[in-house]
Amino acid sequence: MKLNTMKALLDDAEKKKAGIAAINISNMETINAVMEAASVAEFPVILQIAPIQLKVQRISYREIFKIVAILGKKFNIETALHLDHAEKIEECIKAIDAGFTSVMYDGSSISLEENMENSSKVVSYAKDRGVSVEAELGRVAGAEGQEENFLKGLMTDPKLAGSFVKETGIDSLAVSIGNAHGHYKYEPKLDFQRLEEINKEAKIPLVLHGGTGIPDKDIRKAIKLGIRKINFFTEIDREFVQGFIDAYRENENIYMMNGQDAGQNRMLKKAIEKIKLCRGY
Ligand code: 13P
Repeated sequence: MKLNTMKALLDDAEKKKAGIAAINISNMETINAVMEAASVAEFPVILQIAPIQLKVQRISYREIFKIVAILGKKFNIETALHLDHAEKIEECIKAIDAGFTSVMYDGSSISLEENMENSSKVVSYAKDRGVSVEAELGRVAGAEGQEENFLKGLMTDPKLAGSFVKETGIDSLAVSIGNAHGHYKYEPKLDFQRLEEINKEAKIPLVLHGGTGIPDKDIRKAIKLGIRKINFFTEIDREFVQGFIDAYRENENIYMMNGQDAGQNRMLKKAIEKIKLCRGY
């Protein structure tokens, strides 16, 4: 495994006009599945984990970094270890100090001024240590509110995108263009016109959160319009859990082993699909 920065991977994707799938990892089995998927697809992947996931797993930033480094020795892949959705500067600092190669500071629920100020602080700490930073402008909602008008109010303002990037010095920008986290209640309608305008203003790689449930054709179109990192969690995570449940129902004897095997196989398949979709061929 070659652990690179998010910036290096996204700059390379920019040259290839491709996208990189960023997949949330939840334990050793899912780290193995995602890394194996990148190795099968012969294309980089970004491994990401949010502070809330570390909390429920009861492990530290340093521990997850070491697990990824050890398991990664088996795979000939290029990857980045990314902190997803950190709402506190201290979380970004902990991840950077532990060896993560990129962090997302998520200031989407605070004022624009605070978001700019905090994102800039994270950038100055990260840049000195060779770590890349993603920030969010506008807000990507959760599954709680997906009514069209609700989402419209949260969308990224293209006019602000240029100044936000310049002021903060971030390496990639997460956009809100009709995307939402979790399962969509309705087929998502991405605002491609807005994406095009954001891309013109921001001039850095753009990130699409809420990859679950976005039709393949829309992912391809978004990549054409400047999206370089596409986040997938729910859809791929569900494969692991469903594989586990099905295996348990089939054989109620060797719970853990059967579940780990079946879950990993199903997740691997879905992760390969998504990496290839973003790769574009
Ligand atoms: P989904 O769970 O909707 O795929 O979104 C993942 C994500 O954006 C993680 O940051």
